[in-house]
Amino acid sequence: MPVPAWLQQRLEAAGGSVPFARYMDWALHDPEHGAYGAGRLRIGRHGDFATAPSLGADFAGLLAAQVAQWLKELALDPPTQDTSSQEIGSSRLSLIETGPGEGDLAGQLAAALVDGWPLLAACTELVLVEPNAGMAARQRQRLEDCPLPVRWSSFEELAARPLRGVVLAHEVLDALAVERIVSSGAGWRQQLVTLQQGTLRLEPGGPLEPAAAARLQPLGLQPPGEQRPPGWCTELHPGLEPWLAACGAALRCGRLLVVDYALEAWRYYAPQRSNGTLMAYRGQQASSDPLADPGHWDLTAHLCIDSLVAAASASGWQLLGQCRQGEALLALGLAERLHGLQHQGGAGLGELLARREALLRLVDPAALGDFRWLAFARGESGADQAQPRSGDTPLFLAEPA
Ligand SMILES: C[S@@+](CC[C@H](N)C(=O)[O-])C[C@H]1O[C@@H](n2cnc3c(N)ncnc32)[C@H](O)[C@@H]1O
Repeated sequence: MPVPAWLQQRLEAAGGSVPFARYMDWALHDPEHGAYGAGRLRIGRHGDFATAPSLGADFAGLLAAQVAQWLKELALDPPTQDTSSQEIGSSRLSLIETGPGEGDLAGQLAAALVDGWPLLAACTELVLVEPNAGMAARQRQRLEDCPLPVRWSSFEELAARPLRGVVLAHEVLDALAVERIVSSGAGWRQQLVTLQQGTLRLEPGGPLEPAAAARLQPLGLQPPGEQRPPGWCTELHPGLEPWLAACGAALRCGRLLVVDYALEAWRYYAPQRSNGTLMAYRGQQASSDPLADPGHWDLTAHLCIDSLVAAASASGWQLLGQCRQGEALLALGLAERLHGLQHQGGAGLGELLARREALLRLVDPAALGDFRWLAFARGESGADQAQPRSGDTPLFLAEPA
């Protein structure tokens, strides 16, 4: 497939090659040509790929109990005595969704909060953080009738008047550009995307700087050795720490829930995983070729749990706990909801069967049930103790692994 003219021009201007992360960022987030930037990707059963909220409202219905509990705890937490808290009023709470995609999760959560926790909903606003204008335009349409006050903002804007609330990052951190490294047998090289005779190629670049190579040690990646022969390739996540720092600066106090495909470092960087986790998705098809038709495919890599937790800690977040999505949703009442379907009056058989199938997919350990939930806190009284207080134990949390 020919290289699109815009990409050819950029690569030529860059001297013929760029690090993989720069290419991935262009392919996803370029405002004119990127798959998200141009609003090209569609999320849902009939779109490019499905996510949990796009399967129906049950995911949000279950998550709402956790969000409501956290919002209640924040409402009861003594507000810090800073001027911004007096300005915005101590009772105001924010539910912030980053990377809202089609806006399904935000809309469904708003409805579930208003329905189940009306008093809490009355003092809660919805804030959407979406850097891609093409996606934000569709979210505005989807949320026209949102029952909560809703606004769009950026972490940078919010940092000027930080909020008290809950941040949700559902399948968004996997859209941050990853760096790829390749073993040369004796050392590590950064992977480049190069233009060669009119086609795109993945090529090893120069050796990693010693400081960068030293940072691989805690991940079990130094030195490559025999187990990671020449050509063995994986991903690093340099975008996590800046993202977590910017997100943290937007919050005076609150919680962050990250939900994503994620693996512990020992699994992520196991010798047998010789080509990382990077995948491309489009039209419900999966491909391992990240160079095909740039700007028209979703590119996504798993998170490394150790890297995420280290980046969060370096940005002032305390890990509250983590577990698999299947465990979280069962703790939040998925089995009861499934059982309750048989007593639902008014709904047609087709609708009930679709909900049953979606609920089972959410906990299937071979599918969405294997997603990880990681919860973090910052700025609350007692948050530095990293222990939930009795009576307000988050509903899903297991002990950190
Ligand atoms: C895979 S979609 C997830 C959509 C939605 N959360 C869901 O689960 O259905 C990724 C979303 O994150 C947005 N996004 C990408 N980079 C982002 C960033 N740095 N901050 C916030 N959102 C981002 C994309 O534009 C898109 O809306």
